[in-house]
Amino acid sequence: MRFRIRRPANTPADSFPEDPSLAPAMDTVEPEAPQAPLSPREIELIRASASLVEPLAADMTVYFYAILFARYPAVRPLFPPGMDVQRGRLLRALLRIVDLVDDPENLVRFCGHLGRDHRKFGALEAHFPAVGECLLASLARYAGSAWTEEIAAAWTKAYQTVADVMIGAAEQDARVRPAVWPATLVHRVSRAPGIAELTLRPHLPYDYAAGQYAAIETPWHPLQWRSYSPAHAPREDGTLTFHVRAVPGGAVSNALVHRAVVGDVVRLGAPMGDMVLDAAVHGDLLCVAGGTGFAPIRALIEEVARRGGRHQVNLFIGARTGAELYGVDDMLRMAQRHHWLTVRGAVSDEYIAGIRGSLPEVLAEYGPWYQHDVFLSGPAAMVASAKERLVYDGTPPERIHHDPFDTPVLHAS
Ligand SMILES: Cc1cc2nc3c(=O)[nH]c(=O)nc-3n(C[C@H](O)[C@H](O)[C@H](O)COP(=O)(O)OP(=O)(O)OC[C@H]3O[C@@H](n4cnc5c(N)ncnc54)[C@H](O)[C@@H]3O)c2cc1C
Ligand code: HEM
Repeated sequence: MRFRIRRPANTPADSFPEDPSLAPAMDTVEPEAPQAPLSPREIELIRASASLVEPLAADMTVYFYAILFARYPAVRPLFPPGMDVQRGRLLRALLRIVDLVDDPENLVRFCGHLGRDHRKFGALEAHFPAVGECLLASLARYAGSAWTEEIAAAWTKAYQTVADVMIGAAEQDARVRPAVWPATLVHRVSRAPGIAELTLRPHLPYDYAAGQYAAIETPWHPLQWRSYSPAHAPREDGTLTFHVRAVPGGAVSNALVHRAVVGDVVRLGAPMGDMVLDAAVHGDLLCVAGGTGFAPIRALIEEVARRGGRHQVNLFIGARTGAELYGVDDMLRMAQRHHWLTVRGAVSDEYIAGIRGSLPEVLAEYGPWYQHDVFLSGPAAMVASAKERLVYDGTPPERIHHDPFDTPVLHAS
């Protein structure tokens, strides 16, 4: 199977001119839904073959990258030297796409996110046929004798559709904002053991909404992008402050917490995430934060204040021990100034004065919350169990907002 290129390759993502007049745009326009959606038969073939290879996903991914780098060595420098973390991501994205093949609106939304996200990786239109070819070769190998010409044709059509949407979204995005924003570290303080507060000054205006997050690449681990959330609403001086916790053995977090000094320059990817105040339909908000998950929640609360306190906000901050209960004092001071804000801290593994228990237990005790919009942020397990508990107690899932746990773009509303 051959994949077409729509036109000659465009300019590299990094070649965006450093022109401050090219202000980044918050609003991104979704490309139109594909003209020729897949037929029910093609969808069936894609789903059946995907479920066939799914149990072999780990081996198939290794094979995919091996042939991609062997056949197209020019794409290797785009990927980090160690490929452990992201190996599974491409395949997980494909499985997500397989889920969405009969939902063109969300498929386009999802692939549009992916296409814009790929600008910071330096992915070009010319790379798509190579990835498509190796992907199909991998699917064919792992589907074995079940692979047919008809299945190959269905996958080719699906991949081309996805690639077209990704390329189109990246092109539109390139017209309004850079692919990456260099940013200088202008201030750093330690907030708690292993947690640093880092303030960056982007070299170009960085337009984001409170509650969104940014991918950061450090000079010490090139091509390794990790997500971090500014801990405040947008500021007039354009600086961004992140709270970063050093994860044991973590490459980027340790570099940021223990190695970065004032004057160092990192790169930011475009802001991402839908956990923003405009997503709320109710006047009453329930905000729940664990660990450095406090950062986007703090940003949202600042945004409520900036808009004149038109929401009643119930904030729960949780940790295992009192020492880890981070951000409470800051928020209690804020609650003294704003009648609309109520703050409660919960500690699960230690007896201290205040509320005892895990966040999900404490939430159940203080509910019901079914008439609230809920913003959750923190360790994946905490977010998942809090969400499960809230849904069980009657909060509609669509009113519960949280960031994706893993690959930022792997969700479509
Ligand atoms: C949407 C989003 C927003 C985020 N916002 C913030 C933020 O504001 N502040 C912040 O400090 N972090 C935040 N994170 C986590 C951050 O993106 C990184 O995952 C984290 O800093 C670890 O990166 P690393 O390179 O140091 O670790 P890696 O080198 O990627 O991982 C090293 C080891 O640590 C484990 N690990 C990875 N992440 C975590 C984790 N979070 N907790 C425990 N173990 C882990 C891995 O499984 C691996 O074994 C956010 C993540 C997402 C998805
Ligand atoms: C249908 C086509 C594709 C899909 C579904 C896809 C999917 C993904 C996903 C889900 C991620 C992880 C994103 C993240 O962590 O933010 C990713 C990362 C990446 N992709 Fe793609 N991709 C596609 C095509 C391409 C192409 C054509 C290139 C160019 C060679 C490319 C290069 C990369 C790179 C360099 C990364 C980063 C890897 C890392 O951070 O470790 N992708 N891709």
